[in-house]
Amino acid sequence: MHPPKAPLIEARAVCAGYGTRPVVRDLDLEVRPGEVVALLGPNGAGKSTTLRALAGDLAVMSGEVRWLGDARRAPLHRRAREGLAYVGERAVFTGLDTAENLRVGRVTTDRAIALFPELGTRLTTGAGMLSGGEQQMLSLARALCRSPRLLLADELSLGLAPLVVDRLLRAVREAADQGLGALLVEQHVRKVLDIADRVYVLRRGRIVMTGTPQELRENLNAIESSYLAEERSPQRTDL
Ligand SMILES: Nc1ncnc2c1ncn2[C@@H]1O[C@H](COP(=O)(O)OP(=O)(O)O)[C@@H](O)[C@H]1O
Ligand SMILES: [Mg+2]
Repeated sequence: MHPPKAPLIEARAVCAGYGTRPVVRDLDLEVRPGEVVALLGPNGAGKSTTLRALAGDLAVMSGEVRWLGDARRAPLHRRAREGLAYVGERAVFTGLDTAENLRVGRVTTDRAIALFPELGTRLTTGAGMLSGGEQQMLSLARALCRSPRLLLADELSLGLAPLVVDRLLRAVREAADQGLGALLVEQHVRKVLDIADRVYVLRRGRIVMTGTPQELRENLNAIESSYLAEERSPQRTDL
């Protein structure tokens, strides 16, 4: 075994949210080079808030985010220059065509097509006219083809057909095998467990479980019903 590599990103006791209300509390997590980490949890658990706080897209209320060992606050665009790729929801420019989306992302069409050959026949198609799967291939190509150190991706596979989900997740796995660190928020729990090295489960803004995919799989039914199921009542009295 090699000693573990230094984390690309680390959250220590992070609280983050909107206005004065923290949504995510006491968050501790890290992502190292070469690993795919899955962040799971029901709707409203705070997964997107977590990614935005890590990316620098949302200021943390307390605690610290260390990016490349540096705890100074930095906005997303600065971290992006240093190799942080953040793929949020709806990450393509629908008013531009595929080639223009790549150009804006400073990615050559050759590299994008090497990753996802499907994009080759869609270069002059408006991104808004692409299928959901093609849009996400475009988003992921824009992120991965710049060889980032860290990918933070929010529900890449939302609403997509299983085969497309497999394509996207495999592309992330292969990039991680070349050294990328990835933190993936995913609803396709079983599929992401197939490619992940570690898992965090977030519920009501707190990490309630961490482990390897194997550890989670052993108790997956219980975990799904107690941690991943949607809240039964929209009224939350415990926040
Ligand atoms: N921009 C926002 N302003 C205010 N509240 C928000 C905003 N985005 C999310 N929230 C609230 O934060 C909580 C967690 O949301 P989110 O991080 O999007 O969860 P998840 O991604 O796990 O579904 C929810 O209660 C949501 O309503
Ligand atoms: Mg979300």
